[in-house]
Amino acid sequence: MKQIVISGTGVFTPEESITNQELVKAYNSYAESYNLVNKDDITQGNKVELELSDAEFIFNASGIKNRFVMDKKGILDPNIMHPILQRRSNDEPSILAEMSLKAAKKAMERAGKKANDIDAVITACSNLETANPAISIEVQALLGIKGFAFDMNVACSSATFALQAAADMIRSGSAKTILIVDPEICSGHLDFKDRDCHFIFGDVCTAMILESKETARSKNSFEILSTKCLTKFSNNIRNNFGFLNNAKKSSPLDRDLLFMQEGRKVFKEVVPLVSQLIIDHVDAEKIKIDDIRRLWLHQANKSMNDLIGKKVLGRVPEMHEQPNILQDYANTSSAGSIIAFSLYSEDMKNGEIGVLCSFGAGYSVGSVILRKIG
Ligand code: COA
Repeated sequence: MKQIVISGTGVFTPEESITNQELVKAYNSYAESYNLVNKDDITQGNKVELELSDAEFIFNASGIKNRFVMDKKGILDPNIMHPILQRRSNDEPSILAEMSLKAAKKAMERAGKKANDIDAVITACSNLETANPAISIEVQALLGIKGFAFDMNVACSSATFALQAAADMIRSGSAKTILIVDPEICSGHLDFKDRDCHFIFGDVCTAMILESKETARSKNSFEILSTKCLTKFSNNIRNNFGFLNNAKKSSPLDRDLLFMQEGRKVFKEVVPLVSQLIIDHVDAEKIKIDDIRRLWLHQANKSMNDLIGKKVLGRVPEMHEQPNILQDYANTSSAGSIIAFSLYSEDMKNGEIGVLCSFGAGYSVGSVILRKIG
């Protein structure tokens, strides 16, 4: 069977960032003024008083300290509480395409690839800026790539599902070298007025180059030994934004048109699902758990990752075995495990094995077993 490798990765990190303290200050200021304005309704029981948020709670509950964002000012303004992104003309690149380009160029450089070496582009992310044309086709045009491009969305597992799709496509011969980009402006789907989740997300874009081993020239390549994807329906993470909102007479400010979750339930249900999937996947490939050098897990919650790591390895993982980037980036949806892989993989030795695994809305879980080569 043709051997497929990831020969380059790239991360675009936005310039602006927000600490927990800054975020909490903005939220608390919003909550205090809401409580003041609605004092009478709150006293009469018509409205619920908003409780204050707390930076220490956020770190202890999630492991998050900081997040990068595309617009800090709007998010931190208690009168706005969402990013403000400039509307662009149809002749300008979309914001997702622009971020993708920045990450793609880094991945292409690391893989030693030019636009004419690539013959397919996949944009895999949680939220697509436009319905059409596809962001991928824009990225393809901006980079001058021939061939074809398409978008796909499997929420937090978009990147790993794209890895499986791309590896299968190269194996079957429908493409030779594929660029995957994962632009995630999660601050756009987050309700910064909701104390339960206002701290969860950040923005970023990751990129990967996939090709067959014969054409790879990079000194830091990882062979894709096997992929395993799983989906299981759940209502515990929802976002009802969609093309029928207008027909259904939704208002743009309806709460269910942004990210919503039952965080506790997600935690409880996803940990066993993911741990078992990784254990079964590794076992099916006849790889011993002791031979796994690294776990690049989806970055949503540190305790969740600690538990998954412990269940998979059968012991508490060392820090270098399970790198966390959550403290700096927060949850960046599909890009999280790819950031961890991109930042913490070069030190691995030839032949060493790691597992990259995403999980999230759907539920969706994607496990990719990788072996360092070169
Ligand atoms: N500041 C202070 N207190 C807060 C708070 C905040 N921002 N948000 C919630 N609380 C309070 C709650 O009101 C609750 O108080 P109570 O015990 O008096 O009722 C308490 O803290 C615990 O709230 P809970 O929502 O149960 O917190 P948690 O420990 O489950 O942590 C998450 C919340 C979201 C960090 C956690 O559930 C999580 O990460 N789950 C997994 C989510 C996930 O993977 N999602 C995938 C998304 S792609």
